[in-house]
Amino acid sequence: MTPIAFALQIARSFFRIMSLPLTIKTLGPAHLEEATQLLASQFCEREPLCRILGLTIDDVEPVFRAQIDHVITQGLSLVAVNRSGNVQAVLTVEDQFAPFIPDPSSISQKLQIINGLLDSLVFPAAMQPTRACEVYYTGLAAVAPGQQRKGLLLIMMILECYSRLKGKGYRRGFAKVTNARIGAQMKRIERIFRREIFTRSAEIFPSEFKVQGQFPFAAFRGSINLIIWSP
Ligand SMILES: CC(C)(COP(=O)(O)OP(=O)(O)OC[C@H]1O[C@@H](n2cnc3c(N)ncnc32)[C@H](O)[C@@H]1OP(=O)(O)O)[C@@H](O)C(=O)NCCC(=O)NCCS
Repeated sequence: MTPIAFALQIARSFFRIMSLPLTIKTLGPAHLEEATQLLASQFCEREPLCRILGLTIDDVEPVFRAQIDHVITQGLSLVAVNRSGNVQAVLTVEDQFAPFIPDPSSISQKLQIINGLLDSLVFPAAMQPTRACEVYYTGLAAVAPGQQRKGLLLIMMILECYSRLKGKGYRRGFAKVTNARIGAQMKRIERIFRREIFTRSAEIFPSEFKVQGQFPFAAFRGSINLIIWSP
């Protein structure tokens, strides 16, 4: 048994012992609307790039719904649901060989600016997959506000994803981390395993990003990173 699988087993037992009323499941069609609403509301309220540009639910909802529709077909994404089946957390995962490509007409002008910035964080060409089941991308993550032990919840979802995708034969995962809270959770996972798992492959400073002579993210403190890991 790998250390990650072992840790997952302990964490699952902990979940059961604490009787946490949450279960991690594969994101399916039944979760589409709730997952879309959770991601849209939390990105507008708590994701730094969306906050700086003042994105609204209308800016993000159509494209998030289309993205979730796409990832559902691949069956790699996760949700945490409570006893009533309500979605409390979402982690979208897509196969990099068949990534989500949004319809340009569904992307608002503000979202185009964010996508332009994120496009400059390029996944290394040498690591691009040549077939399915090689590389996966964790695109969107959100935890419901007020969710007790939410730190543990996101860590559980990252570990579940890591373990499941390794089991499916994936060699590499990556994410574009725009929220320092995700980076903090990755550091926690590394502290648990006492080794580096998440490697920074590229770093950009949004405050330096220029669009038509303007610096739309001038207020952004720090950097955003392309993080790669090998299950
Ligand atoms: C990102 C998100 C999923 C993280 O949820 P979470 O796992 O519940 O994370 P928490 O809010 O508990 O924060 C985790 C840790 O980050 C650290 N942290 C908080 N603010 C931080 C900051 N500004 N800089 C660095 N670390 C920070 C803290 O140590 C915190 O742990 P603590 O509660 O023990 O203090 C959640 O904030 C969210 O839904 N955000 C909106 C959507 C989003 O931004 N998605 C990610 C895009 S990459």
